[in-house]
Amino acid sequence: MVPMKIINGLPYYKFNVQDKDEFTQVSRLISQHLSEPYSIYVYWYFLNTWPQYCYTVKDPQQPTSIIGVIISKVEPHREVRMRGYIGMLVIDPKFRGKGIASNLVRLSIQNMIEWDNIDEVMLETEVINAGALKLYESLGFVRSKRLYRYYLNTHDAYRLILPLTEKSHQRIAFLPSIVNKPAV
Ligand SMILES: CC(C)(COP(=O)(O)OP(=O)(O)OC[C@H]1O[C@@H](n2cnc3c(N)ncnc32)[C@H](O)[C@@H]1OP(=O)(O)O)[C@@H](O)C(=O)NCCC(=O)NCCS
Repeated sequence: MVPMKIINGLPYYKFNVQDKDEFTQVSRLISQHLSEPYSIYVYWYFLNTWPQYCYTVKDPQQPTSIIGVIISKVEPHREVRMRGYIGMLVIDPKFRGKGIASNLVRLSIQNMIEWDNIDEVMLETEVINAGALKLYESLGFVRSKRLYRYYLNTHDAYRLILPLTEKSHQRIAFLPSIVNKPAV
């Protein structure tokens, strides 16, 4: 498979849905480094429905070895805005602090803008995850809500949002629907 991009010598790929080994490596990375125990169905839901928004980074010394992954999606929000959502982001501890996560987030957002004309991007992260909060806030995300005991480990979450268009600043009640409904 040809990388989508090479940044600082590291290859960034679209996730290969056909490759079982990629799926195994991605689920291992996520289960080892995210506190929330996601079931296999959650991965499949994201990876099969929005494969265009799931990216991996591989180790140039061991080209089949995945060292970072981002899993995201785009859907209409309340029928009035296009909303990107970052579901999971993990970098192998040996490769942290090199800007890989920031590059994966930027890559996802650029493609969401280009392919789906999104109005905003949203995600949740644990209130105690200082690294993730710093990473997202340095990219322009702002805290919109604190969600009490959001995670199974009972930790609270911050909902973070990156507004991209005017629509993202307007109240939902004042926005027209963007969803085509079948005529009755
Ligand atoms: C959070 C995580 C994805 C960051 O990956 P990374 O590739 O090391 O991040 P980057 O190198 O792109 O860092 C970008 C910025 O984020 C901030 N940052 C990242 N990790 C940090 C940490 N542990 N402590 C403080 N700031 C941190 C820094 O400001 C950094 O910019 P700088 O290097 O110019 O100071 C990674 O630590 C990880 O996989 N953690 C476990 C899983 C997780 O928490 N995922 C996010 C859940 S939403």
